[in-house]
Amino acid sequence: QPTLADLARRHGRYFGSATDNPELTDSAYTKILGSEFDMITPGNGMKWYATEPRQGVFDWTAGDQIVNLARENHQQVRAHTLVWHSQLPDWLTSKQWTADALRAVLRQHITTEVRHYRGEVYSWDVVNEAFNDDGTYRESLWYKTLGPGYIADALRWAHEADPHARLYLNDYNIEATGPKSDAYYALAKNLRAEGVPLDGIGFQTHLALQYGYPTTIEGNLSRFSGLGLDTALTEADVRMRLPATDAMLAEQADWYRQLTQACLAVRRCVGITVWDYTDKYSWIPGVFPGEGAALPWDEQLNPKPAYQALREALS
Ligand code: G3I
Repeated sequence: QPTLADLARRHGRYFGSATDNPELTDSAYTKILGSEFDMITPGNGMKWYATEPRQGVFDWTAGDQIVNLARENHQQVRAHTLVWHSQLPDWLTSKQWTADALRAVLRQHITTEVRHYRGEVYSWDVVNEAFNDDGTYRESLWYKTLGPGYIADALRWAHEADPHARLYLNDYNIEATGPKSDAYYALAKNLRAEGVPLDGIGFQTHLALQYGYPTTIEGNLSRFSGLGLDTALTEADVRMRLPATDAMLAEQADWYRQLTQACLAVRRCVGITVWDYTDKYSWIPGVFPGEGAALPWDEQLNPKPAYQALREALS
């Protein structure tokens, strides 16, 4: 039977999964990872703490392992992520930087990492999670030291290092319209007007049954298309309070169906990635105790109702 990737391709879309290096020793897991998807995102292996653990000393081990596996499986890679407030190495966070010194560090990091993966990745999440939920800038190391201009700088440096990679801003809680999504809309519009190389907005789509479905998602994706931007659902999962009941799993399936339909309805929504595909390796239980069951495959790697719903939505 056709895979999720096969079905998505008929619509000119991809269907992807995140993965992480420790899981790659699980051969039952890698079998499905290698067959069902055509886009792979490293969940941690390309983040700053992994790639530049000491200043100026780069380590590509984790990222390369995933890029090589994807190539063997004829999959593309959504690379993640260059500029973020989290998972930074200690040498970076424990020092007081002047703006000029930090700008040089950021430029070197972006240039070196993007060059290393030049020609090997489809896209980059250049800046991740730049805004707070109220639409103000997050007071990250980057914003506090460099001001909001770090975003345009990062995009320009990434573009110089790999002119063919699609460059994204990526965030959570922007699926529905609201202050945070409006902040991205305003920023994206300005960046485009200034000729800054921004190609797309990534909607992480970390949903939770207890908070309700983001019903405005389709219109919201559309307005970004209207700016000439691609959109993508980049880290989709639908968590719930445990234990999961059949009714909750049915509602979850319906949400996966709806978010897939929303992407298919928007011409420039280029694809969907789930934030790993199995509950066995989901980040949710570690961060939200008592919650989980967020992905289309269960902990035994059996497909859940959500998997069938994805297939139906793509058929
Ligand atoms: O590497 C250490 C290991 O040495 C140690 O033994 C172990 C003990 O806890 O921790 C390991 O680090 C963990 C790291 O993942 C690598 O596995 C961290 O504790 C853990 O917090 C970290 O979680 C990652 C999280 O980002 C950090 O914020 C998740 O795996 C990763 O899936 C998640 O991904 C983010 C996206 O990048 C951005 N959007 C949200 C998404 C979910 O939080």
